[in-house]
Amino acid sequence: MIHPNSPYKRIWDLFVFICITYFAIEVPVRLVFHYKLSAGVTWLERAIQIVFGLDVILNFNTAILKDRLLIHNRKIVTKTYLRSWFLIDFLSAFPFDLFGGFFFQYFGVTDSLKILRLLRSVRVFELFKSLRLLALGADSDDRFKLVEVINPMTFRLIFFVYWTSLFAHWVACGWIYLGPEFLADKDITTRYIRSLYWSVTTLTTIGYGDITPVTNKQTIYTMGVMILGVGIYGYVIGNIATLLSNLDVSRVHFQEKLNTIDSFIKYKKLPPQLANRIRSYYVNLWENKHGIDETEIWNQLPSGIKIDVSMFLHNHLISVVPFFKNAPEELKREVVLELKPAFYMKGDIIFREGDVPHNMYFLSKGHVEVIKENTSELLATLNSGSFFGEMSLIDDSLRTATIKAGSYCDVYTLGKDRFAEILKHHPKFAQHIQIIAEERKKNQTSKTTKTE
Ligand code: CMP
Repeated sequence: MIHPNSPYKRIWDLFVFICITYFAIEVPVRLVFHYKLSAGVTWLERAIQIVFGLDVILNFNTAILKDRLLIHNRKIVTKTYLRSWFLIDFLSAFPFDLFGGFFFQYFGVTDSLKILRLLRSVRVFELFKSLRLLALGADSDDRFKLVEVINPMTFRLIFFVYWTSLFAHWVACGWIYLGPEFLADKDITTRYIRSLYWSVTTLTTIGYGDITPVTNKQTIYTMGVMILGVGIYGYVIGNIATLLSNLDVSRVHFQEKLNTIDSFIKYKKLPPQLANRIRSYYVNLWENKHGIDETEIWNQLPSGIKIDVSMFLHNHLISVVPFFKNAPEELKREVVLELKPAFYMKGDIIFREGDVPHNMYFLSKGHVEVIKENTSELLATLNSGSFFGEMSLIDDSLRTATIKAGSYCDVYTLGKDRFAEILKHHPKFAQHIQIIAEERKKNQTSKTTKTE
């Protein structure tokens, strides 16, 4: 039995989906314009027919997932399939023109039977659902646990566009079917484009009225399409509006936050310079982190997931900080879990010489300047991968220099107490930090500039 979520089945589903779409577009066009197919296309269609046939066989051999339970029992699988999609699948897969050829040709209905292939379009709904879950998570308990790859909202939007386009296409073909004399002197492409134009203007309730029904059949058809159009139009527009506003839900939240901040600035009568700094901080927060407050999300995560998430999130930091690269896994996990993210903009003072120390800092992105307050001398420029703020923590003194962001900086802070604990448990880490701190101290006294 095939697992319904196995990667191969998914790729197969995608393939079947493409075949269905091909038939859903091509069959109606051929039914109304009655053109001859080239040999290549005929073979392609035969191949698709075989794909559909194979799909029926595969479906009989695919286990089913019911209430998170995987059912392998052949009897149940067969019964479920026979009761659900089998008839539709069978009718659309059966090559009537080959097998029932003589019988059906006798009654002159072979062509109309091709419309049965359209039946499969109904399955597109189901396939769409499974295609949405294309990526597979490697979970040890459930080999084929699925992970959503596309934002569900975006997916629904794609789904709408797909269905409305297909529907407009069918309505256009129906229009020509009911009025074969429509622009009969023109070529197929012009006739199709004009009828698609009629279909779109009617379905979107715009109805210019430049193409109007002539026969009774067409008039009744037009009325039907108009009524359907109103419903579809309302439904689609309503849905798209909600979808679009939900798509950018974080931006909306962020905008609300900015408004509150503006009111705060006005209420507290903050000077323009300070107000601008606050605003640019938030603009940066949006540009660099999409307005997501990592700490807030962090606090909600269960500790088991936290470690793995933080290892993943700090991948970059671990790769840029030379010491971490060769550090033992336990140390990385321990440190990484305690890190708190923060960011600074160019020119921000991260802390000043003489301040009471609370944290040590790891620089993940950007560069900082180490400045001596009294002489305003630049002691060093530290680049991404460096750490700072360790000297005063080790010596239990005040900050020995001022640290200023030389560009936009992403930093991670490690609290004083945790820093001490980690030093205690990981002597190698302690030794490494102490060596660097010593070097820096020497540099401070000799006032030479060192870049890490
Ligand atoms: P701390 O004393 O806590 O605060 C200032 C920090 O600047 C200090 O820790 C070091 O991390 C860093 N620092 C001080 N002097 C130098 C130097 N010469 N080169 C690089 N970094 C330094």
